[in-house]
Amino acid sequence: MSLKDVISKRKSIRKYHSTCIDEQTLNNIQNFFLNVKPLYPDIKVNFDIVGKEHLKFTFSLKSPHYIVAYSENKPGYLVNVGFMLQQVDLYLSSIGLGGCWFGMAQPAEKSVNGLEFVIAFAFGNPAESLYRESVDFKRKSLDKISDVADSRLEVVRLAPSAMNMQNYYFVTEDNTMHVYCKKPGMLTIKRLAKMYEIDIGIALAHLYVVNSEHFRFFEATNPKEVSGHYYVGSVEI
Ligand SMILES: Cc1cc2nc3c(=O)[nH]c(=O)nc-3n(C[C@H](O)[C@H](O)[C@H](O)COP(=O)(O)O)c2cc1C
Repeated sequence: MSLKDVISKRKSIRKYHSTCIDEQTLNNIQNFFLNVKPLYPDIKVNFDIVGKEHLKFTFSLKSPHYIVAYSENKPGYLVNVGFMLQQVDLYLSSIGLGGCWFGMAQPAEKSVNGLEFVIAFAFGNPAESLYRESVDFKRKSLDKISDVADSRLEVVRLAPSAMNMQNYYFVTEDNTMHVYCKKPGMLTIKRLAKMYEIDIGIALAHLYVVNSEHFRFFEATNPKEVSGHYYVGSVEI
């Protein structure tokens, strides 16, 4: 199945068989890491595959394997990791493996070679159905996440987000889409606020996968203001 096809079928998998994935498949996944498109090519990112002994709090999501994402802490790094790792999520699903973003997990090592831990991702052989029908996605309607209910944003609407919050907003202008992130409230914990930006990267990954030829991410000179949100960037598709 292509990554494009996975978008309207994927779901978070939280039940896994305890059996490990074979060596060849793990190598294929590592190779896929090397071909993932970054949003900010100048930000150093590293993905590693580890077992549960490298993470804390895995009791809530037990799987035989986890990806741990580390990155340089530079402007845009959270969106960048979301963008890159969501391509991996789609890839895993396309080869019949289950996966789930795992914001709750923390690694023993908070930084490795100067790169900061960003997020973990659980994966393995699924012990529940891997796909669902598009009608079974529980999501905000298009008009809640964009100024015009533009059907090209359907793939964004289906993207996973932390606690399914979809804290982003899109303003469309012909082939350009300006992306905004909801301002976290005073009581929003820092870790959750970080995930708002990871979620934006995830949503943009879906736009990229279906528009890979024309996709360009850039900073607009005078983006319009959106109440309660801050500007993140713009995409040409
Ligand atoms: C950044 C991020 C962090 C997440 N953290 C967790 C987590 O710690 N535990 C969990 O069970 N699910 C976690 N999820 C999965 C979301 O709850 C899930 O994507 C959302 O409810 C939508 O469901 P779906 O992925 O099945 O479409 C996370 C998702 C994202 C994008």
